[in-house]
Amino acid sequence: MNDNLHSLRCFGCGARIAGTEARPDFRCSQCGDLFEVEYAGWGQRQGNDRPNPGALKWLWRERRCSSEALDQSGVWRFRELLPILDNFGNAVSLHEGNTPLYKLKSAAKTLGIDQLFAKHQGMNPTGSFKDTGMTAALSVARERGFSWVACASTGNTSAAMAAYAARAGLRSLVLIPEGKIAWGKLSQAMDYGSVTCQLKTDFDGCVRVLTQIVNEAPIYLLNSVNPYRLEGQKTPAFEIAEAFDWTVPDHLIVPGGNLANSSALGKGFRELQELGLVARMPKISVIQAEGANPLVRAFVENNGETMEPVEAQTRATAIRIGNPASWRKAAKVIRDTGGWCLDVSETEIAIAKAEIGVEGLGCEPASAVTLAGLKKLCAQGKVGSNESVVLLLTGHTLKDADYTINFHRGTLLTETESAGQVEALSALRRDAVAVDATPAAVLATLKGFAG
Ligand code: F0G
Repeated sequence: MNDNLHSLRCFGCGARIAGTEARPDFRCSQCGDLFEVEYAGWGQRQGNDRPNPGALKWLWRERRCSSEALDQSGVWRFRELLPILDNFGNAVSLHEGNTPLYKLKSAAKTLGIDQLFAKHQGMNPTGSFKDTGMTAALSVARERGFSWVACASTGNTSAAMAAYAARAGLRSLVLIPEGKIAWGKLSQAMDYGSVTCQLKTDFDGCVRVLTQIVNEAPIYLLNSVNPYRLEGQKTPAFEIAEAFDWTVPDHLIVPGGNLANSSALGKGFRELQELGLVARMPKISVIQAEGANPLVRAFVENNGETMEPVEAQTRATAIRIGNPASWRKAAKVIRDTGGWCLDVSETEIAIAKAEIGVEGLGCEPASAVTLAGLKKLCAQGKVGSNESVVLLLTGHTLKDADYTINFHRGTLLTETESAGQVEALSALRRDAVAVDATPAAVLATLKGFAG
């Protein structure tokens, strides 16, 4: 490892350790908080010592035309800002990152915003943003000589870990809450060859069990408490800045579950600013589901200074998390950038997801909280019509096809949940219709949809 280049700094007490000194559960032995990868002196470097922003921007763009595997990764093409490996030959990549930034035309029109974009992280190799973090942390696991890696997951982390472990020739152990993850995600862990254990508990319970396991067995923990995950997950910030020609959007809106991703993106923008690549940071807002909203409650109570866990309940199973590990980091990002922390209801999530579908993009339910949250921010006057907004869509629509089908069949929401939104919901529903196998019958059906 380039341990002379990076160290791990405890987010709670500020203690610094070498990467090799981290405990298996990645908690600080002094205060129990999480670590952050730190590149000493980046902010303070002056003159010739400082990376040349123009040269970096040119190099990163140039790599997009390179045929080298490492350059074709949207994570490792920024490797100057993630010197976490001794040898970049150890990187395990599936050509992750370089995901599209789409204009959301209909939603922009409805909300009266000029510039509304979706950064679709669901277009990664395993269909979620987790790939960007997994390429980074799994590469560290390989370089450190581990043969087993493990995670507790609501489904996407496990899918990503299983795939990258398979590519690296490592074995992987997945702990998931029984019956509480989407089939698409479970099928991926199976297909990529993980040992998959469904535990009779929730995500938070799976985390507790796994923490004990890694303290007893030589298994490398790949949950987002692993600070190297966040190094990969910060790179979409670089892609967004690059797409905006090294300015930044006014707002970035991110779903909140275990709250690592918002932390990682905040770190990415902060490092760009420290290195002089961008002049400011976007306001970063985090949106949670109403039934899994511990950070929202923490902001209401005391501006996010302390947080009480909740018993989580939402159909957006990816973010069904009551005791998020990285809440302190996320709260700081929200406060430092002047963003907000909001929650949205099951009905609001369902409507927003269908609207993203109608744009021809689609996403999984947890990603749709971003659009639902944006609507609230606009209504509260916190996002202006002349401001630019990027929604971070975290997962592909095919991850949770059951949710989508239930929505279109009208079986997703309860009557109480639908009350007051019946018209909006039925305008978005497109159930499949059973039709006789004749052209006449199909054409007659079309007439019903004309206009
Ligand atoms: N969106 C999706 C699709 C996710 O899978 C997750 C988290 C999040 C948002 C929230 O991100 O945890 O960094 O705040 N999924 C994890 C998992 C917990 O196990 O796949 P976060």
